[in-house]
Amino acid sequence: MTTETVADAPPARSRQMEMYGRAKQRLPGGTDSNFRAWGEDTIYVDRGLGGLVWDLDGNEFVDLRMGYGPVILGHGDARVDDHVADRMRRGVSFSLTSEDEVTAVELICELTFCDMARLTVSGTEATMHAMRLARGFTGRDKVVKFEGQYHGVHDYALISVLPTDVTELGDRDDPVRLAWGRGIPRAITETVIPCPFNDLDTLRRIFEREGEEIAAVIIEPLLGNAQGILPREGFLDGVRRMTQEFGALLIFDEVKTGFRLARGGAAELFGITPDLATYAKAMGNGYPAAAFGGRADVMNLLPEHVSHGGTYAGNRVAAAAATKVLSIIRDTDVLESLSRTGRRIQDGLAPVVERHGLPYVFTGHPAMFGIMFAEQLPADYRGWAETDHDLYDAVAVGMMSRGAMPEPDSREPWFMCEAHAEGDLVDRAISAFEGALADALEASARS
Ligand SMILES: Cc1ncc(COP(=O)(O)O)c(C=O)c1O
Repeated sequence: MTTETVADAPPARSRQMEMYGRAKQRLPGGTDSNFRAWGEDTIYVDRGLGGLVWDLDGNEFVDLRMGYGPVILGHGDARVDDHVADRMRRGVSFSLTSEDEVTAVELICELTFCDMARLTVSGTEATMHAMRLARGFTGRDKVVKFEGQYHGVHDYALISVLPTDVTELGDRDDPVRLAWGRGIPRAITETVIPCPFNDLDTLRRIFEREGEEIAAVIIEPLLGNAQGILPREGFLDGVRRMTQEFGALLIFDEVKTGFRLARGGAAELFGITPDLATYAKAMGNGYPAAAFGGRADVMNLLPEHVSHGGTYAGNRVAAAAATKVLSIIRDTDVLESLSRTGRRIQDGLAPVVERHGLPYVFTGHPAMFGIMFAEQLPADYRGWAETDHDLYDAVAVGMMSRGAMPEPDSREPWFMCEAHAEGDLVDRAISAFEGALADALEASARS
């Protein structure tokens, strides 16, 4: 491993600044998503290949964001792209059902607990439909979700998500239903009940208070938007049992964890079978493939009793991508390779942090992990606020000047892809971290 810590010059930004000036005239914030609107630091991308990404100014980075997780094989994976290109020459959109869709859903069912599934285009749609299906199945209106969990951008998902000031979440014994931004009807807010992660006592109180109205608990089995804070021993099992006790469904949101933590996702890794689950990211290697699925008796409310549709649901491009990616995940050791790479990076980061005498914990799973500057792993999103996330953010920004690109926000984990194992990408990521940490500590000592 290299131990170089000399800061490189900050990456050139002139073309991106020009693009930002142009984009912000027409796209609010200069982008198509609030999550990548970083003001003058907004990144405009040119291309990616394998585990690398190049911005519009030609700066090269080891990509640790991987598009917020979907790119599990690597950018421009020829196995997937060639298959998609071949299939799309037959036409991409018919609003008729193709064999690609059937094959993709068969693969989902083969790899996971699902009896049946339907394709969507985004994770947002998948969680929205799973929640509606649970309401339709139980005849109840309310859904419990966990603080700090992100399930997409529909109204029912945007409650108690990611405030930086966690006091906004209210009393932990009786959390407030905190809408993220304006425009979410109060009537909807009232149907979504937030609960701190890893807290079965509060969950029980919620069920005892409102159980007869609760259709489902939706949970990402680990806190993917708080660097992958893990469920404590017995927590997921407790949630499973409580939903059964109170006649509610359990929805696993596996948009980030599905086909990444294990072939059968977090459900397989943690040994818990939910009633419904949502999938997206890894199943398409970046193509917009997503799905919701689960028990046949619940899924069979479609098509008669519960609404679901979409002009692009199961479109050829996404279905072909999912077919290829899921076959690769099933037939090769890609997931084992991801974990090996994640562990290699962790093995390289640990001595760097230890040399500085800083407390730290790794969070999540090696295929999708974070590092927190804290004495112990927090149990929930409120605990994330107590970690030294300012230091982490400074390190993440510093890594960009050193040729590696994690998300510049301590909530987002580092995502591994198969191609990170190639060449010296692991060493480059570790070396960027090493230099950035030294710089950040020096800057904080000066201030
Ligand atoms: C756990 C989880 N659920 C749902 C979503 C929404 O997925 P999409 O961005 O495809 O709408 C995300 C996106 O990051 C996610 O991480």
